[in-house]
Amino acid sequence: MASYDLIVIGTGPGGYVCAIRAAQLGLKVAVVEKRATHGGTCLNVGCIPSKALLHVSELFEEAGHKFAGMGIEVGAPKLDLAKMMAFKDEGVSGNTKGVEFLLKKNKIDAFHGTGKILGPGKVEVTPESGEPKTLETKSVVIATGSDVAKLKGLDIDETTIVSSTGALTLSKVPGKLLVVGAGVIGLELGSVWRRLGAEVTVVEFLDRILPGMDTDVAKQFQRLLEKQGVAFKLGAKVTGAEKAGEGLKVTVEPAKGGEAETLDADVVLVAIGRTPYTAGLGLEEAGVALDERGRVKTDGHFKTSVDGVYAIGDVIVGPMLAHKAEDEGVAIAEILAGKSGHVNYDVIPSVVYTYPEVASVGKTEDELKAAKTEYKAGKFPFTANGRAKANGTTEGFVKVLADAKTDKVLGVHIVGPRAGDLIAEAAIAMEFGASSEDIARTCHAHPTLAEAVKEAALAVEGRAIHM
Ligand code: FAD
Ligand code: NAI
Repeated sequence: MASYDLIVIGTGPGGYVCAIRAAQLGLKVAVVEKRATHGGTCLNVGCIPSKALLHVSELFEEAGHKFAGMGIEVGAPKLDLAKMMAFKDEGVSGNTKGVEFLLKKNKIDAFHGTGKILGPGKVEVTPESGEPKTLETKSVVIATGSDVAKLKGLDIDETTIVSSTGALTLSKVPGKLLVVGAGVIGLELGSVWRRLGAEVTVVEFLDRILPGMDTDVAKQFQRLLEKQGVAFKLGAKVTGAEKAGEGLKVTVEPAKGGEAETLDADVVLVAIGRTPYTAGLGLEEAGVALDERGRVKTDGHFKTSVDGVYAIGDVIVGPMLAHKAEDEGVAIAEILAGKSGHVNYDVIPSVVYTYPEVASVGKTEDELKAAKTEYKAGKFPFTANGRAKANGTTEGFVKVLADAKTDKVLGVHIVGPRAGDLIAEAAIAMEFGASSEDIARTCHAHPTLAEAVKEAALAVEGRAIHM
């Protein structure tokens, strides 16, 4: 029987990164993955394909609406959706093959099949066809990720009622797309299809979009999306959908109760969150405890209720983000190799890859107010940034929040061009415990969008130069 130091179940960003780091540190490692390709949700049906479609649909929109104004006459762009999808698929396969290569390079044994924990030190792998085999190991890391959260009354068929997975592979642009949930998936994939020609309506249960993000940022972002043509129905819930000819009649009710209305849609995208994925792992029999939301319970150092069994990524508590899963993968690998792995949960950036982008790290103003923390805020609009003006991308602002007494940066929130790249500077500053003064005194190259971060830090003490 093959025997390992570590078996990782699931090769998403959490699992494959954990396996590589453990192998780097000299452990004998195997991975078990039930998909045909590695990379998990993120590479196969998540981050990568969605970002490919966001990239090309943004270029499509620019070619149609912005190029002429910049002196580039190309005529009206024509959409070849099949080719666009092939471009996206190439990006996915480039990435999944990359992971396969990295696993081989690090001498990690990869088993394809469903992994099940049989008991301490034993993992069974059941391939799609063929006999199950049992592997022995000192430690197991569960990195099985998450699955689409279902909504009662809406049966996902991935053609007319779709999850994010179906929304990444539609064979034609829907005339009307109704999105349930104004979270990250709804706004990213809603943006993709709007740019390609769909009429998009987003129905959101709460009275705001992007819960968890800074309210100021979310409000401004909603206005910008509305200007682009996305319609919002806030404080409303979808209670059912019926087939009507080729399309659907969707019932929408006010969240607080009241009269229902019916909306027509060609496609409905259900994007109301994701749930931890633990099916088939044999956790109950093995004695691995789950929390009230079905996540694998861990002790703060990734250890589950069973000795030798650990868990990371979307399947445990915390934001369901690829980079959070990766950092946890590195941390547990280091812990298992006798080092002191650690994740700083106060500094996990989060990005919405729309146009403009939305990015956030650290505490929001709402959180600081709720915790009665005294803070100062500095805000700087992209309309006053030289590079944004030159590029014609002046939507949005940067906001820096700093402790009123110590000036330590507590949070940075951006809605604007390339916000997802700009937030890295804020994350580094916070990781090093920087003050807003530190950012303000750091020389930033001109002309860059990053100067807006410096100016927002200067604005904390009311001394922004260009405003
Ligand atoms: P996963 O990536 O879900 O990987 C788990 C793997 O485990 C899967 O491959 C699964 O097949 C396998 N598995 C499950 N059970 C078993 C078993 N019993 N045996 C063997 N294998 C098993 N996050 C970002 O940070 N940035 C983004 O831009 C972003 N975009 C996204 C877009 C979409 C449309 C979606 C759906 C998600 C997006 N996410 C994004 C979230 C991101 O994909 C997840 O946070 C991330 O994939 C979690 O990684 P993980 O390793 O925990 O799990
Ligand atoms: P989400 O949690 O971001 O948003 C779900 C939204 O649906 C919330 O606003 C919620 O209030 C709303 N909602 C819930 N039930 C509803 C109902 N019945 N009717 C109407 N609205 C309802 O979840 P989403 O967008 O599905 O994404 C899942 C996960 O994937 C997120 O946790 C996110 O972190 C991750 N992801 C990350 C991305 C990124 O980092 N760029 C991109 C896409 C996904």
